[in-house]
Amino acid sequence: MAPRYKHVIVVGASAGIGAELVLQLAAAGSKVAALARREEPLKRLAAAHPGQVLPIVHDVTDFDSVPAVFESVAQQLGGCDLVIYSSGVMPTVGPAEFDFAKDRQMFEVNVLGGIAWLDAVAERFQSTGSGTIVMIGSVAGDRGRRGQPGYNASKAAVAAFAEALRNRLSGKGVTVTTVKPGPVQTELVAALGFKNAMPVADAAARIIRLAPSGREVYLKFSHRVIFAVIRLMPSWIFRHIPI
Ligand SMILES: NC(=O)c1ccc[n+]([C@@H]2O[C@H](COP(=O)([O-])OP(=O)(O)OC[C@H]3O[C@@H](n4cnc5c(N)ncnc54)[C@H](OP(=O)(O)O)[C@@H]3O)[C@@H](O)[C@H]2O)c1
Repeated sequence: MAPRYKHVIVVGASAGIGAELVLQLAAAGSKVAALARREEPLKRLAAAHPGQVLPIVHDVTDFDSVPAVFESVAQQLGGCDLVIYSSGVMPTVGPAEFDFAKDRQMFEVNVLGGIAWLDAVAERFQSTGSGTIVMIGSVAGDRGRRGQPGYNASKAAVAAFAEALRNRLSGKGVTVTTVKPGPVQTELVAALGFKNAMPVADAAARIIRLAPSGREVYLKFSHRVIFAVIRLMPSWIFRHIPI
């Protein structure tokens, strides 16, 4: 059977969710460009699916290069019908720490790199009248939690940006999906020791299944319910919840 998406770009593909997305999409028959800074893990992905995975070294904070990188990668793939932005960083932040360097890094990778990519992709998909964009957000963007102000704000920003693109591109043949995972077993959150983090293969499979939805989606039904309640919670109550 032909894959749903023939030519896919995964940005942030050297580890975690992005790497697993590459493996599952390639296994399903897609041709996938895998982008990130670290070349070795990208080469391993390519070796796992010879001829199907294109490893591309790219730093998303090299914002000005993004439109040209996107066009070049799409050309090398022979087209592009799905782009997933999965690059993200979440440095450890102490409970009494206020560190602009860390917050800036999170905004540069999680937000500005994402906006650079989504702008370039949206322009092309709008002109062709087709294509799917998936932005990996987080449940962490639903409220300003005390533990990770910069990370929370970065994920709130990408959710708002992706929602605006979804509204802008509705009726133009372009699908924009925002995925809000809870904890997933990757390096990003390994130090936090979540007991019930989702296996990364499970998360990637759910993301691929939800990509065509064109909505803001959670990976678990329970998260949809819990975070609906959390979003409605008054600030003076939320302040006392230790998350
Ligand atoms: N794991 C979770 O529990 C969880 C929960 C909710 C949301 N998320 C989100 O899911 C996405 C993927 O996270 P993950 O858990 O898979 O993290 P991960 O295992 O740490 O992988 C992060 C990816 O981002 C890439 N990246 C970081 N800085 C980059 C840069 N400057 N340029 C290009 N790529 C860069 C990394 O590649 P290089 O270092 O090689 O560049 C790596 O491929 C992130 O947006 C994260 O916020 C994760």
